[in-house]
Amino acid sequence: MRSFATVATALCGLVLSCSSIVSADSTSTSSTVLLPADFKPPQSFKNVNLVRNVNLEKGYARETINVVIENADKRPQTDYYLSFPSDHFNRVGGLEVRNKKEAEKGRLVVEAAEVEAASDLQYFIVRLPEPLAPSSQITLGISYSLLNSLHPRPAAIEQSDRQFLSYSFSAYVPSAYQTVTQKTKVKFPSTNVPDYTTTDLKSGQDPESQGSTYTYGPYDTAKVAPGTTYPVTVRYEFTKPVITASLLERDLEVSHWGGNLATEERYWLHNNGSKLINQFSRVDWTVANYQQTPSAAIRELKYPLKPGSVDPYFIDDIGNVSTSRYRPGLKNREGNLDFKPRYPIFGGWNYSFRLGWNNELSSFLRQVSGADSYVLKVPFLEGPKMSEGIQYENVVVRVILPEGARNVRYETVEGSSSNGLPGASQIQSSLSTHKTFMDTLGRTVLTLTLESVTDEARDSQLVVTYDYTLLDALRKPVTITIGLFSAFAAIWAITNIDVSIKKR
Ligand SMILES: *[C@@H]1O[C@H](CO)[C@@H](O)[C@H](O)[C@H]1NC(C)=O
Ligand SMILES: *[C@@H]1O[C@H](CO)[C@@H](O)[C@H](O)[C@H]1NC(C)=O
Ligand SMILES: *[C@@H]1O[C@H](CO)[C@@H](O)[C@H](O)[C@H]1NC(C)=O
Repeated sequence: MRSFATVATALCGLVLSCSSIVSADSTSTSSTVLLPADFKPPQSFKNVNLVRNVNLEKGYARETINVVIENADKRPQTDYYLSFPSDHFNRVGGLEVRNKKEAEKGRLVVEAAEVEAASDLQYFIVRLPEPLAPSSQITLGISYSLLNSLHPRPAAIEQSDRQFLSYSFSAYVPSAYQTVTQKTKVKFPSTNVPDYTTTDLKSGQDPESQGSTYTYGPYDTAKVAPGTTYPVTVRYEFTKPVITASLLERDLEVSHWGGNLATEERYWLHNNGSKLINQFSRVDWTVANYQQTPSAAIRELKYPLKPGSVDPYFIDDIGNVSTSRYRPGLKNREGNLDFKPRYPIFGGWNYSFRLGWNNELSSFLRQVSGADSYVLKVPFLEGPKMSEGIQYENVVVRVILPEGARNVRYETVEGSSSNGLPGASQIQSSLSTHKTFMDTLGRTVLTLTLESVTDEARDSQLVVTYDYTLLDALRKPVTITIGLFSAFAAIWAITNIDVSIKKR
């Protein structure tokens, strides 16, 4: 604790702003506010103007909402309810809310709420940093991804066919509050949008399109009851895989003794794209591959690795995969690991594998001067960098610290724009010990678990601070020495026992 304030201050200098520092000393589960079954948010706000952007360029939907909100009550208000249809709620990834005018001040505190009974809507509660006075306005910038929200239509295609996805949403944003005016802009990956719902919600054509952007609205919805929906479905070409990691386990192992940071990641991937109608044809695939025709199968994954990464490996269920290529970065550049799965992964297919590499610990670890405290700054999430993006249903990050490391704290680094991670209350943390060869106490392991994130979080950073003394550092060599000594002593004792059979 003693040096923790120093560390925290030092850190705040390093990063743009500091998120709340979470103690990992005890298991902290993500906090959820319980709401009664008949809960309806108090109508203390109104949305004066709302603009939603839906981005469909990747294998998941990403939405950003800019909304001018006004306190419609007689008293100052702090809690703004953000509603989602119940079937979307668990698939909201990396939700972040900022005060648009003070984006650099970082994200606002957002808590997940749970309505006790089955309900059409579920809520997140946005806590405004200061109570908003009656009739005052502020602009919220809300961003999130919706995982598993894109469906291939048709669901099955020929190997050489182009793939189309469909996305459904409501032309009226399902807000808990009265919304005076609103519009939604949908950005498609290309101009090929064969099907989309047209509406009569405004005079003139709706939606209007310009290139690959379609705009629904603006609508005057002052008289429309909050929660009114108007279903819209769009279908568009997406000739890329829909890459889903149903689970990613990421281990970062710190070795003070070896001066090494070892990273190992285990992926369970699935392609949520169109399935194949017919059996896979290797001949057709070879031809298509040769002609570089776009495909909805995963043929290669590109993984930029931090400067100085060495000894990469790529192993799947069968064994070492030789079709990987590693180009280390020169000087301080990132390296590139391009790896090809053993077979192209078509829609409906799975592929699981393991990847790993080493880095020099000194690039990531700093000792707090004059203290037995260390600051480790590592990427929270890396993962392949693909233009079609990747959605992660479950992520488990384990930071394996040396034996004896204690007083472990962690925080995620926040900048002036979204880091793709959810707020601190939606990341679960726990501490445990992990025993390996020649460990006496076992290593301290910080485990962070989160659900529903996307590769938007690729560049997020994790800072872990811990105390670790010289005595702890000596524990391992001493244990090994004692171990070796007892082994020698045993051998000596055994070899000195006279087992020869002699005549006395
Ligand atoms: C995509 O695949 C994952 C993993 O198998 C599954 O959990 C998810 O429901 C699928 N999404 C859709 C939209 O079918
Ligand atoms: C695994 O494959 C890579 C790439 O071809 C090769 O460099 C490496 O030596 C192989 N490792 C083992 C253990 O076979
Ligand atoms: C793919 O993996 C998921 C779990 O991640 C499993 O439920 C599903 O059965 C697997 N599909 C196939 C075709 O093996």
